[in-house]
Amino acid sequence: MSEEVKEVKIETSGKVIQSPCGPIIHGLEDVLVKTTTISDIDGKNGILWYRGYRIDELAKYSTFEEVAYLILYGKLPNRKELEDFKALLASYRDLPNEVYSVVTTLGKVKAHPMLALEAGVAALGAFDENPNDYSKEANLRRAIKLTSALPIMIAAHYRASRGLDLVKPRKDLSHAANFLYMMFGKEPDETSTKAIDLYLVLHIDHEVPASTFATLVAISTWTDLYSAIAAGIATLKGPLHGGANEAAMKQYLEIGKPENARAYVEKLLAEGKRLMGVGHRVYKAYDPRARIYKELVRQLSEAKGDMTWYRIAEEVEKVVLEKLAPKKLYPNIDFWSGIAMYLLGIPYEYYTPIFAMSRVVGWTAHAIEYLDQHRLFRPRACYVGPHDVPYVPIDKRQ
Ligand code: ACO
Repeated sequence: MSEEVKEVKIETSGKVIQSPCGPIIHGLEDVLVKTTTISDIDGKNGILWYRGYRIDELAKYSTFEEVAYLILYGKLPNRKELEDFKALLASYRDLPNEVYSVVTTLGKVKAHPMLALEAGVAALGAFDENPNDYSKEANLRRAIKLTSALPIMIAAHYRASRGLDLVKPRKDLSHAANFLYMMFGKEPDETSTKAIDLYLVLHIDHEVPASTFATLVAISTWTDLYSAIAAGIATLKGPLHGGANEAAMKQYLEIGKPENARAYVEKLLAEGKRLMGVGHRVYKAYDPRARIYKELVRQLSEAKGDMTWYRIAEEVEKVVLEKLAPKKLYPNIDFWSGIAMYLLGIPYEYYTPIFAMSRVVGWTAHAIEYLDQHRLFRPRACYVGPHDVPYVPIDKRQ
């Protein structure tokens, strides 16, 4: 039975540039590129759904594994399906030695971990059992494999970059706990595991931001899923996409104590500068992920016995709500998540890789979904240079 199709209009705030060939929608802002059943955002009211479920409920009751299943298979798993899925994820908790070698070599030379992820994912593609199988089943298997591989690569890079021995993954731990275990070599406490797990749940998909679009452009050429994910990682690396939580955390470190927060923000705004972790292209209300993660950060700060950063952020938030909310600028997820990463002892350069570790699920799900409605992306550019320029032989050129 076909569902009734509702007519939904996305209001565009996009800048249209007039060109000799017609209007150009700068940055493709609000241009629709596909239909999806994976996630939906109501930016006006600050609501996010995954497969129709509100993020608030999923964050409260589900783990990363459960939500990853939901994103990839389109339904919440029953108990047996979840156990099988967890076992499958755990069964892929290993990397070929050559892939370890790519990632750790880049760690040793202190290459950015996002570069190591790009290279590691491409290298993993070389070991696919059946590279010519482009079926949905094969791509789902690759999606799960990639989801298991990314945390291993991140931890291997981290340890190699610090001259530490590798900690091999454990199959008996959850996805989040195994990641922290591989990073720091000891089993994490429950609150720390929850901090990573919830972060992963909240970042797993967000419709079609630049990195997902890059993945779609790549897969639209019928390239392999590993290459498409490498494109997604490459795109997420840019500071305009990943990375604002690091900038927000550095801001709190600069503020130093809660009493300094108001003056700091007022001065920054008076100078026409931007407050990091505030504002969003789509959300014109409080980012629902930020609202959820704020409470986690409070709990983690209590558990770690360090409320300083949470208190500073709370003071900053008061000024934001007073001065910027009237302009529809509110805290986004990065406003709070940098504090959690900092309290967990994760170095700044790994904040974006952890984002990728979650978003790989959304990227792969979108790529698989797009192959069902496939068309090669091929936009046009408006040429504004000269034509038929007379060719001048090299010796006669000025
Ligand atoms: N602090 C102060 N003022 C801001 C901020 C901010 N963080 N963000 C936007 N504004 C102001 C702009 O100065 C501008 O003011 P004006 O109209 O008086 O000139 C107005 O709001 C609109 O700004 P735009 O840049 O057009 O808004 P856009 O929707 O393109 O920006 C963005 C979204 C890029 C996220 C922006 O809010 C920003 O730079 N925020 C800080 C960085 C950040 O936190 N990024 C994380 C995004 S969330 C994520 O990726 C998970």
